[in-house]
Amino acid sequence: MRLFVLGSAAGGGYPQWNCLCRVCRLYWDGDPRVAARTQSSIAASADGVHWLLLNASPDLREQIMRSPPISPAAGADEAQRRHSPLGAVLVTNGDVDHVAGLLTLREKQNFELYGTTGVLDVIASNPVFSVLDPACVERRPVEIGKPFEPVPGLEVEAFSVPGKVPLYLEKGDVDVGEEGEMTVGVRLTAHGRTAFYVPGCAAVTESLRERVRNADVLLFDGTVFEDDEMPQAGVGAKTGRRMGHVPISGEGGSLDAFEGLGIGMRAYIHINNTNPILIDGSAERQAVEAAGWRVSHDGMEIAP
Ligand code: MLT
Ligand code: MN
Ligand code: ZN
Repeated sequence: MRLFVLGSAAGGGYPQWNCLCRVCRLYWDGDPRVAARTQSSIAASADGVHWLLLNASPDLREQIMRSPPISPAAGADEAQRRHSPLGAVLVTNGDVDHVAGLLTLREKQNFELYGTTGVLDVIASNPVFSVLDPACVERRPVEIGKPFEPVPGLEVEAFSVPGKVPLYLEKGDVDVGEEGEMTVGVRLTAHGRTAFYVPGCAAVTESLRERVRNADVLLFDGTVFEDDEMPQAGVGAKTGRRMGHVPISGEGGSLDAFEGLGIGMRAYIHINNTNPILIDGSAERQAVEAAGWRVSHDGMEIAP
């Protein structure tokens, strides 16, 4: 199995276009300890030829341009004028950073679009996505807990994790932490190897811990290091948990929650621009690395 991190940052990317938080300011000032990161997406393949795109970020075009395995030239023959190794796309929620890139995928290319019924309904209710011609793009509902094979040899299973509806659909009291169809994690299995991809998760439950026990790879929600990081940074009022993202540190944080589960490789992904793990050598970067985690970056390849 091959996994390819296309975008390691959360919504907005790093740096965010209008942000002067402590971490973004390092980038604008040219500090060598930080590197730009695009928005949340990975690609996965069992054969290196047919690829599943997991989440379609607003930065997708740029991500394809610098990723030879998913460029139109990969696997195409001389006569072909249109081609893509991306045979299928799976979205794990309806957030802007995970669906806006679907608009980049117009242009009469055949592929299958997978998501839960809840998320596909959100997409269907927005007419702009009609640019994906139904004659080319088949929308295929994914059942929670029912494995499927979107590209040859790659078994995929979606499972519910605590989450919420997309930000743009929030109204009144929001149920953050509901385990339903609006936020899923994904198991990827090929050649006897298993990887989990969970870019958004509001809490680490006991059932999630058991699910990922002894996995070869875990790519997990690294949005914020501290729950109140955004208010502390002076860029917003919301906590990580309120945004549907369990913090890395602190009580109930992911750093402690995934300890001792025999996971081969753990890496944070979907990292917010306020998160100090983005800074090489920061105390927070050192803390996660000392606990056995890596901080994913754009272009990172994983071959479990
Ligand atoms: C999130 O992960 O919380 C969302 O991507 C936020 C957003 O819509 O910008
Ligand atoms: Mn996001
Ligand atoms: Zn920032």
